[in-house]
Amino acid sequence: MTILVTGARGNVGRAVLEELVSAGQDVRAASRDATTLDVPDGVAKVSADLEDASTLDAALDGVSAVFLYTRPQGTEGFAKAAEAAGVRHVVLLSSAATLEPESAQSRIARLHHAAEEALAAASFASTVLHPGAFATNTLGWRADIREGVVRTAYPDSRIGAIHERDIAAVAARVLIDGSHAGQSLALTGPEPISFREQAAVLADVLGRPLPVEELTPEQAAERMVALGWPPEVPPDVLRVWARTLREPSPVTDVVHKVTGHAPRTFRQWAEDHHTDFA
Ligand SMILES: NC(=O)c1ccc[n+]([C@@H]2O[C@H](COP(=O)([O-])OP(=O)(O)OC[C@H]3O[C@@H](n4cnc5c(N)ncnc54)[C@H](OP(=O)(O)O)[C@@H]3O)[C@@H](O)[C@H]2O)c1
Repeated sequence: MTILVTGARGNVGRAVLEELVSAGQDVRAASRDATTLDVPDGVAKVSADLEDASTLDAALDGVSAVFLYTRPQGTEGFAKAAEAAGVRHVVLLSSAATLEPESAQSRIARLHHAAEEALAAASFASTVLHPGAFATNTLGWRADIREGVVRTAYPDSRIGAIHERDIAAVAARVLIDGSHAGQSLALTGPEPISFREQAAVLADVLGRPLPVEELTPEQAAERMVALGWPPEVPPDVLRVWARTLREPSPVTDVVHKVTGHAPRTFRQWAEDHHTDFA
């Protein structure tokens, strides 16, 4: 049984690849450009673009299960190619945005919902992962942290920041067992933690003070676009931050239930990633 990992260079995809390799699975790693993809020994690489169905047949040949990233275009084409290849199970990296109260107004939710629908209509089994905010989002603070500060809007918004290794551990368990078919899994870290508290943890782990400077929502939106986010995305994110300022984002026990271990804390994430802030 070969498992295809799309986005094998990505934060989550890379972690899924590592989980599957350490569990002794036969894994194929995909990227739009596999020639520049670095993989563990023994892992096959393949170039595949989820938005170009003509590239998918070779990637899916002999594959029984897939870890799939959501792309704005392409999930329908992927589903057809996966059906033709005889894929039995797909685990989709979706988003908590499709479950949140703001989903009707959210472009992020619409994008992920369309991918979920395309998989639901297919003949293979699928499992949809709905992680909340990633701990890796704080990598966007790197330039500020080098200046000795953290700048954010809504610094007291409390979100259940999740470590990418916990998303990956759930994905790997489901891919290996073929379990949780037809299910939606809402994944979070262990506790709601504010941006101010995340900054304090990073200051402690990095061993230098990191005072928080509050941005207006407009300033924060400009900075997200400067970091490469599509301009339609910041309003969706800022709506969630405004809500989680009033009521902390709920956390779930799904990581624990599926993997048998508690989700990692933000401190564990910061310790794992301290060199990224050097
Ligand atoms: N950030 C959050 O708080 C959050 C919360 C909930 C859900 N999410 C979801 O998580 C995703 C981001 O995950 P991440 O941090 O792991 O992403 P990432 O590190 O930015 O990696 C994205 C991966 O997607 C691959 N990719 C991009 N376009 C592709 C295409 N057309 N065909 C095939 N592969 C393609 C890239 O691979 P190559 O460049 O090698 O081709 C890359 O490895 C978002 O898209 C969203 O769906 C994020």
